Amino acid sequence: MNTGGAADGSAEGGELEAELTRLLGVERFEPPAGFVPRQLAAADETATADAAADPLAFWAARARELLVWDKPFTRVLDDTNPPFYRWFDDGELNVSANCLDRHVAAGLGERVAYHWHGEEGERRSVTYAELLADTQKLANGLRALGVVPGDVVGIFLPMIPEVAVAMLACARIGAVHNVVFGGFAPSAVRERMEVSDAKVLITVDGARRKGRTAAVKAGVDAELGDLPKLEHIVVVRSTGPVGGAETAMTAGRDVWYHELLAAADPHCPPLPVSAEHPLFILYSSGSTAKPKGILHTTGGYLLGATYTHRAVFDIDPATDVYWCSADVGWITGHSYIVYGPLSNGVTSVMYEGAPDYPDHDVWWRLIAEYQVTIFYTAPTAIRACIKWGAEYPGRHDLSSLRLLGSVGEPINPKAWLWYHRVIGGGRCPIVDTWWQTETGSIMISPIPGVTATKPGSATRPLPGITPALVSEAGEPLTEGTGILVITSPWPSMLRTLYRDDERFVETYFSRFGPRTYVVGDAARLDADGYFWIIGRIDDVINVSGHRLSTAEVESAIVSHEAVAEAAVVAQADEDTGQAIVAFVTLRGERAGEAGDDAMVEQLREHVAHRIGKLARPRRVIWADDLPKTRSGKIMRRLLRDVAEGRELGDVTTLRDPAVMAALAAKVASAP
Ligand code: PRX
Repeated sequence: MNTGGAADGSAEGGELEAELTRLLGVERFEPPAGFVPRQLAAADETATADAAADPLAFWAARARELLVWDKPFTRVLDDTNPPFYRWFDDGELNVSANCLDRHVAAGLGERVAYHWHGEEGERRSVTYAELLADTQKLANGLRALGVVPGDVVGIFLPMIPEVAVAMLACARIGAVHNVVFGGFAPSAVRERMEVSDAKVLITVDGARRKGRTAAVKAGVDAELGDLPKLEHIVVVRSTGPVGGAETAMTAGRDVWYHELLAAADPHCPPLPVSAEHPLFILYSSGSTAKPKGILHTTGGYLLGATYTHRAVFDIDPATDVYWCSADVGWITGHSYIVYGPLSNGVTSVMYEGAPDYPDHDVWWRLIAEYQVTIFYTAPTAIRACIKWGAEYPGRHDLSSLRLLGSVGEPINPKAWLWYHRVIGGGRCPIVDTWWQTETGSIMISPIPGVTATKPGSATRPLPGITPALVSEAGEPLTEGTGILVITSPWPSMLRTLYRDDERFVETYFSRFGPRTYVVGDAARLDADGYFWIIGRIDDVINVSGHRLSTAEVESAIVSHEAVAEAAVVAQADEDTGQAIVAFVTLRGERAGEAGDDAMVEQLREHVAHRIGKLARPRRVIWADDLPKTRSGKIMRRLLRDVAEGRELGDVTTLRDPAVMAALAAKVASAP
């Protein structure tokens, strides 16, 4: 049994509580004595010094050492047109060859790439050789459907090995993938396919969740059927008939994945592309309702994912079993389920299911069964596990674990300590990794076994990365709280927003000039040079590590026929980090429905339909009017104060200061 496991409420549970309380007083944890760092981690001290002395030489050396190039690069960085940086741009390579062919050629074809596990206990282990075989067939299948280099291919799949095959098949032929998180609604998929002019969409018949099966393809048909640029839909048969109904296929447009593979030539050599060839677009939320198409390219991105995956997770591909519990539809899945792990040739666990189904111990059962050595998850998941109780991990032997990771939001010290003690048995370093969709790979993180950790801090920048804090006026700060920026380019940085260079410059590089990347987070820097991420400074909400924009949710709410106006803010939440609170004004003739539970449910469902369940407001507060400045701008700061029950700030700039008092009274009486 795991040493930390104990049922809450038992004598042992009481001891655990007492120990966690004691640990809350410990500010700094030296690397656990028993942890022996390997390869890159051990070399970190020199790496940091080398990178600081000559960042370009550092990155060039890593690019040559970690990736296989079809045509070696001679130029490391072209920074003549900031912020449009180009890395290794006269070099050529193929991402799928780096992730698959090189391992098979090295005799590692029989190594398992993914131990896949379904929620009903189904299992499938896919080797590197099998992944390569399917990738080649799908690549040829996509070609047969007319996909050429530079075309966009949409991917809307659950956590099944085919999602990796789909991404790699695109990379193999120079197509650009656009993966949409499986939890998004088909109408959100439509928007992302439409704005990127996707030619093909790869999706699935149905998806399982907690014992139920949802019809995915039917939803896709209803929302995307008429998209003029979408020529074909490839359908993976994953669940079989949903609710007794066979999946409808439109002749000439739709094709079954297995039939496409069966008909394809099994041999498809990887296409060498320029290091600056686009690899993927990933839509993420920004401060407007329109999602941003974050564009990553080939060489720099793959270098970032490969290097950081090795250095931060201290990977030994020959012995480690690695598991990242994210969804492949987010950047964490792209970099640390697919590209980083495969490029490094490691064996991963891939799980399609929820952490609490069939029971709350399913994750820990999988860790014990597959002897997972490295586990990477999000603070929101850890907080849920704390709530369920230490008895669940306590049922399993977690002694295979040697390293734990966290990502997506600040981890509160209590969650950090529970993770350290209950899951890691006190012997595993925790790497709290700060980064973003835009950065492509981890930027600030401890190096395990080297960096002393402080619960709640992502600690220090990785070699070659130069974060800094500045004041509102842009003056550098050596300590204290400020705006987080990155002062020099790095290989895996986003290259632009798809077809929107102007918004790219405006969003990230206008405030302090074209050489200073503005992250969008506030942070604190302590006397040891450790970074403490505070959170977003723009209108982005982080719900359970999922990024949503207030404007996106507002526009979904106001599209409901009964709604006149809506304003959305984030409220601090113990479980999900932040929760969505919507202030809603109904149209005059519908005003009588305000306060109705049925109306609240209707609005929540409406948002689920437009964006996805993850965007449903936690609370709906009915407002007769919203606080606006004289120029008509909604003052969200005041709404946040109201939602979180704080003393109201200055209301004198409001057109009608009485609005706030009325709202505060409403909130006080609302559930
Ligand atoms: O606010 C930061 C938070 O998540 C934002 C990036 O969201 P996204 O692009 O969806 O990528 C999430 C996974 C990399 C950041 O601007 N964030 C991410 N990791 C951390 C974090 N906040 C604090 N600590 C972290 N480790």
